Amino acid sequence: MILPIVAYGDPVLKKEAEEIDQDYPFLQDLIDNMFETMYNAEGVGLAAPQIGKSIRLFVVDASPFEEEEPKLKDFKKVFINPIILEEEGKAWNFNEGCLSIPGIREDVSRQPKITIEYYDRDFNLVEETYDGLAARVIQHEYDHIEGILFTDLINPLKRRLLKSKLNNISKGNVRVSYRMKFPK
Ligand code: NI
Repeated sequence: MILPIVAYGDPVLKKEAEEIDQDYPFLQDLIDNMFETMYNAEGVGLAAPQIGKSIRLFVVDASPFEEEEPKLKDFKKVFINPIILEEEGKAWNFNEGCLSIPGIREDVSRQPKITIEYYDRDFNLVEETYDGLAARVIQHEYDHIEGILFTDLINPLKRRLLKSKLNNISKGNVRVSYRMKFPK
C-alpha cells in the first residue's frame, strides 16, 4: 500500500523518534508499505517519520546509484533502532534531496565512512561499516529519526534563500508526482 509522504513543515519531521520492539503492530506490513511508497516516489530512502510515524525505522535501496558505485547493486536494507557508532574521514559534499522536500536539492557536507549498529527486519542485531553513497543515504535517513532535515545542515544564507520555497511546500503549493500530506 502506498502511503502519503509527510511534507516539510509537519512537526513529526522535527521530532526525535522512539525505539520500537519486535511486537510493534504490523511491523512487516509497515516495512513493505514503506518500500512500496519509496519506490513509487523514486526515492532511495524513506524514514518512518516521513509517513507520519515517529519511530526509529528507515528503509533504503540505493541500487539507482549502481552506475556510480557497482557495489550498490543489491543495497536494499531495513534499519530498526539504529545507532551510528562512528563517523570518520574528511567531510565531502553531495547534492541531496528529500521526498518530504520536493523540488529542492542542496549540497550537504558529511563524513564519508560510518559504523552503524541496528536491528534488521527479523530483529537480528547487526554491526556494519559503510562508505561512499551507502553511508550518505544512511546518514540522511538516520537524521530523519533524529528530527533533522538536510535543509537544517546547509549554511544559513542558503537556507534563507529557500525560505519561501519551503513555505510553499508546507502549504502544498508544489508540483509533485506522488501523494503527500501537507501540514497547512
Ligand atoms: Ni529525506
